[in-house]
Amino acid sequence: MAKETLTITDNRTGKTYEIPINSGTIRAMDLRQIKISEDDFGIMSYDPALGNTASCNSRITFIDGEKGILLYRGYPIEQLAEKSNYLEVAYLLLYGELPSKSQYDAWGHNITHHTIFHENIKKFIDGFRYDAHPMGMLLSTVGALSTFYPEAKNIFDPDSRKKQFHRLIAKMPTLAAFSYRQTVGLPYVYPDNDLSYTGNFLNMMFKMTELKYKPNRVIERAIDILFILHADHEQNCSTNAMRSVGSSLPDPYSATAAAIAALYGPLHGGANEEVLNMLSVIGSKDKIPEFIKRVKAGEGRLMGFGHRVYKAYDPRAKIIKQIAHEVFEVTGKNPLLEIALELERIALEDDYFIKRRLYPNVDFYSGLIYQSMGLPLSIFTVLFAIPRTSGWLAQWEEMLLDEERRIVRPRQIYLGPDKRDYVSIENRT
Ligand code: ACO
Repeated sequence: MAKETLTITDNRTGKTYEIPINSGTIRAMDLRQIKISEDDFGIMSYDPALGNTASCNSRITFIDGEKGILLYRGYPIEQLAEKSNYLEVAYLLLYGELPSKSQYDAWGHNITHHTIFHENIKKFIDGFRYDAHPMGMLLSTVGALSTFYPEAKNIFDPDSRKKQFHRLIAKMPTLAAFSYRQTVGLPYVYPDNDLSYTGNFLNMMFKMTELKYKPNRVIERAIDILFILHADHEQNCSTNAMRSVGSSLPDPYSATAAAIAALYGPLHGGANEEVLNMLSVIGSKDKIPEFIKRVKAGEGRLMGFGHRVYKAYDPRAKIIKQIAHEVFEVTGKNPLLEIALELERIALEDDYFIKRRLYPNVDFYSGLIYQSMGLPLSIFTVLFAIPRTSGWLAQWEEMLLDEERRIVRPRQIYLGPDKRDYVSIENRT
């Protein structure tokens, strides 16, 4: 059998090194022994956006980007979307196995009974301006939660960790809904513990004067499926932020606030909002060819297309496209759908997108569904953050318990000036 090693010859010295290969990977630290002299630092690897660097071992989520496969703890996303619900999936991500009936009941009970937050949090939310973006409100109020639960600093206490899981997963929908209601000047609606996780979210978003809010079953289930699809996605930008910030050992609220900040950007979770803006700007099907021409000329991107890992159709986008039709039967068709479908058709036949293997990602159709449910544009990325919290927490705990854990601290290639002497201001040119 061939040896699982890599032989490197350093042409500067003529020396040869044999480096072990494990799981198709070499350790960057093994390159350090390659030196031209005793006092040489040794070779480093350079990978600016970590496109070819494994930063951890993980047992949570598997993606095969070539084949368009996504598994949570080994279970295909299609089966989970069809048969499971978000709370069960959150349990699976955190604990590694699907819960038994009694575990599921206890889990659901715990989440339900942590949905309310301290009344003082409302004062923060009240303090934002009427036009504050709910993602900005979410990231700051989640960060603020760390001050309400100082015992969350005991991150190596499994019971404390568990409690913060309950709190964070339970409170995210409440924070999201309160942020939205503040911006539109509506009174806050407190959680209704009789409802499901997503049913209660709809209640807190949309309840008006009725005594009891009754969520539409199709919409409640559609949001539940969307939450399953968004729950985890291995080492993406926000998860990397969660692990990286978490590696300096702050409490999980602070690390989650960092992950929310990373998700906010238009190249990551913020893309769902951008897709809707893009479709509105295009305005009609006949304007699509002109828009595509501009994208190909480098004047902007086709938002909701492309992915660092998927070089095939994102399996989540396929499921979302299916549920869109079920939702539109209840809500009526989103007028922007026709533009989206035509845009996808044209892009998938265009050489530019074919050559670069750019397909619709999870964000291409999700915004259309949210919009037709009456959810405001500004809350779309928040709807991504709510379910991703379970994935972030699972990844955070895995990082904490990893025996190779150290504070994340990359190296750099310094290209600045050599050492030079300070010049007083009157002598500078
Ligand atoms: N529209 C047009 N061209 C694109 C797009 C796009 N959406 N995405 C990539 N490209 C092109 C790039 O211009 C580049 O072309 P070039 O080789 O001629 O320079 C090539 O495809 C490779 O693109 P990169 O930027 O190197 O790919 P990367 O893996 O770094 O980026 C990303 C991935 C950020 C998702 C990118 O595809 C993108 O910006 N997409 C639009 C934003 C988006 O939908 N983000 C959501 C991603 S899913 C998520 O985070 C939940």
